[in-house]
Amino acid sequence: MAIYYTQSGQMGDIIDSLTAPIIAAGIKVEKVAIKMVNDYAFPWTGTRFFSVMPDCVLGVPAEIKPFELKEKAYDLIIMGYQPWFLSPSIPSNSLLNHPEFKAIIKDTPVITISAGRNMWLNAFVRVRKSLQDAGARLVGNIALVDKHLNPISFITIFYWMITGKKDKYLNLFPKPGVADEDIDHTKVFGDTVLKHLSVNNWNDLQSELLEQKAVIVKYPLMFIEGKAKVIFAAWAKFIAKRKNRAPWLSAFKYYLFIALFLGAPVLLILDAIFIKPFSAKRIRAKKQSYLQVI
Ligand SMILES: Cc1cc2nc3c(=O)[nH]c(=O)nc-3n(C[C@H](O)[C@H](O)[C@H](O)COP(=O)(O)O)c2cc1C
Repeated sequence: MAIYYTQSGQMGDIIDSLTAPIIAAGIKVEKVAIKMVNDYAFPWTGTRFFSVMPDCVLGVPAEIKPFELKEKAYDLIIMGYQPWFLSPSIPSNSLLNHPEFKAIIKDTPVITISAGRNMWLNAFVRVRKSLQDAGARLVGNIALVDKHLNPISFITIFYWMITGKKDKYLNLFPKPGVADEDIDHTKVFGDTVLKHLSVNNWNDLQSELLEQKAVIVKYPLMFIEGKAKVIFAAWAKFIAKRKNRAPWLSAFKYYLFIALFLGAPVLLILDAIFIKPFSAKRIRAKKQSYLQVI
C-alpha cells in the first residue's frame, strides 16, 4: 500500500513512478491519497502560507477525512510526505498521529519517500521517530529534492506555491520542485524495492538505495537546516502564545528572507573558516544519522 498527501499532485506522480515496476511485476498496490477535513487551499496566499508555520513546527495535527483501507495487513507500506517549515507537513503529521494508520503500520515494513525543496532532514527525523514509536519497521528512505541552488529554489518554489504553476517564473528561472527526470528516475528505486519485496528480505535495502543516490545529504544545507531548526522552534513557540498572530507571522516572514539571503551565506563562510575544518568526524557522523533508517 502507498499512502500519501499532495497538493500539487507532485507526490502522486512520484508514487506512480516508484510503484510502476512493482505493479508491472503483477503485485497489487493499493494507493491512498489522504485528504484533510479543512484542506489547505492550493495555491496558497502569502499570509496563509506562513500561518501554518507554528502548527507545523509544534506538530499540531489536524483532522483527516476518513479513508478506507482494503486490507487488514500489508506486506509493505510506502508513505509519501513533504516537509513544511523543516517539519513533516501538517497532513503527514496528522497521518502519523492517526489511530488507524498507527495500527496498520505496526510490525510492518515501511518505506518513506519525501519530496521537498531541499530541507528535509529534520522532517525525516521526526517521521522516523513517529514510525518507530508506532512499532513500524522502517526499511528504506528516499528523499527527492529540487536540485537548484538554495536561493533559486526558494524563489521558484514560493512562486509555484502562490500561483499553483509549476513552470518557469518570468521564463527566466528554472522549473520549481522535483525535476521531471528525477520523478521519472524514481522507478529505478522502485525496481530495488521490488527485488526486496519479492523475497520479503529488507536487510540491505537502504544501503542499496544509498548506492543509487536515493538520498544525498549536502553539508551546507545540513548546516543551515540545523541552525534554522532551533530558531524556527523558538519563533513557533513564541507565536503560538500570541492572541494576534498576524504581525508576528509577518515578522517571521521578513526574518526568513533576511536569514536565508544574508544570514546563511555569512554563517556558512564563518563556519568554513572556523569550525568545519576541525569537525570532519562529527560532520560524518551527523550525515550518517540522516542517511540511515534506524
Ligand atoms: C507551507 C510550506 C512549507 C514548506 N517548507 C518546506 C521546507 O521547509 N523544506 C522543503 O524542502 N520544502 C518545503 N516546502 C515544499 C514542500 O515540501 C513540497 O515540495 C511542495 O509543497 C509540493 O508538495 P505537494 O504538491 O506534493 O504537496 C514547503 C511547502 C509548503 C506549502
